[in-house]
Amino acid sequence: MSRKSLTLSAELHEYVVAHSTPLDPLARDLVEETWAALPRQAGMQIAPEQSVFLTILTRLLGVRRAVEVGTFTGLSSLAIARGLPEDGQLICFDISEQYTSVARRYWERAGVAERIELRLGAAAQRLRELPEEPTIDLAFIDADKPGYPAYWAEIVPRVRRGGAILVDNTLRGGRVLDPAGDETDSAIVRFNDLAREDDRVELVVLPLGDGVTLARKR
Ligand SMILES: C[S@@+](CC[C@H](N)C(=O)[O-])C[C@H]1O[C@@H](n2cnc3c(N)ncnc32)[C@H](O)[C@@H]1O
Repeated sequence: MSRKSLTLSAELHEYVVAHSTPLDPLARDLVEETWAALPRQAGMQIAPEQSVFLTILTRLLGVRRAVEVGTFTGLSSLAIARGLPEDGQLICFDISEQYTSVARRYWERAGVAERIELRLGAAAQRLRELPEEPTIDLAFIDADKPGYPAYWAEIVPRVRRGGAILVDNTLRGGRVLDPAGDETDSAIVRFNDLAREDDRVELVVLPLGDGVTLARKR
């Protein structure tokens, strides 16, 4: 087996970001506002290179119907919505009115608010309100980590064959190798094992941002 691997130094990470399509001024404003208004929570936002990855993937797959679990102030939803066609639809799930009020403003500013429906409340319950038919083209999971198995259980049957499921933070800064009693890290370790054993999908863990699992429904 080939054992090629790469550890990104800070400099190499900067190079990766510098040689990827940058955030546009609107998305940069959103990042800056999030750090200014919510400095303790802002690290929850996806990385800039993940934002462009989401938009490209949405376009490559010709996504029309997308679902996001964990919206926060809106960077990932903005990235997905911008990759959708005019009549595409993104349903976002989050529990926080405060965080998502920021997202709503940026969806308006970006001209994509018409494509997005926000559903507030505990996502494990609210996901069950989605039609049971497999109509979702793309799902992005990025909410509370202990909830991942429940979100996965609701989402996988609803994704069409050939559709994609992205799951964020699946490397936890490398701590998946030694979760050492941390409940959130352990939850991700359990989720990664569960996903790998799931025959309904083929998947790869990408070392992008904090680790993104890209799964394709068989
Ligand atoms: C990591 S942040 C999402 C970051 C977002 N994807 C972005 O790019 O900015 C996690 C979000 O999950 C939400 N959340 C936490 N527990 C939840 C639950 N049980 N149901 C729905 N949303 C939840 C939080 O309110 C928070 O906004």
